[in-house]
Amino acid sequence: MSKGLFISFEGGEGAGKTTQIQTLKTRLEDAGHHVLLTREPGGTPEAEKVRDLLVKREGGNWDGMSELLLFYAARRHHVETLIKPALAEGKIVICDRFSDSTQAYQCYGHGIGHDVFKKIDALVIDSFKPDITFLLDVPVDVGLKRSKRVNDDTKVLSEAEIEDRFERLDSSFHEKLRQGFLTIAKDNSARFCVIDALQSRDDISAAIQNAALNALKAGADV
Ligand code: TMP
Repeated sequence: MSKGLFISFEGGEGAGKTTQIQTLKTRLEDAGHHVLLTREPGGTPEAEKVRDLLVKREGGNWDGMSELLLFYAARRHHVETLIKPALAEGKIVICDRFSDSTQAYQCYGHGIGHDVFKKIDALVIDSFKPDITFLLDVPVDVGLKRSKRVNDDTKVLSEAEIEDRFERLDSSFHEKLRQGFLTIAKDNSARFCVIDALQSRDDISAAIQNAALNALKAGADV
């Protein structure tokens, strides 16, 4: 049976992941591939409940370690019951955020030790990683303006307003995140594809599509 391909998208707030994920999904489906779109935290009904605890206001304020463990409880369920079975069926799985977000947000952002992250990652999901990760990189001031504009422009303010725990952090936090993501990408350069998200939407989509199709040609029998 074919092996499938696991693609993740990463980036700070306002990097434009949602649009690019949808575009890639459509293009891969047009090319005849079976695509499963999912997200973290979340992706399964159980993990979506954990998402509510983490990102909604009513979830309360977790300390860093509790937060890390909640992310990994959700991730294990997501990996074991949704992602791995889909890959085993030969599907392309596109995930909006994965464990690189944990290292960026919880370690670079909130100061959890990288050794702790690595140990938990190995223990809970056996250090399972995407085949390719797109990092949409944008300067912090541009990203924050964009994410605010999206919130202002849409009628669906409720979810954006509710899921604001992480977005409310100040711009120095977002700068730490950006630099963290760039360092993670450098340390894992074989897996990462860093995209300058200041380019036009079409240029970004083209770069992502080319890299995904090359990854498919290079190894995955999808
Ligand atoms: P989203 O807004 O991209 O859906 O992600 C929800 C928030 O959760 C976002 O602010 C990033 C944060 N997050 C972490 O802090 N650690 C993680 O491991 C993941 C997956 C997300």
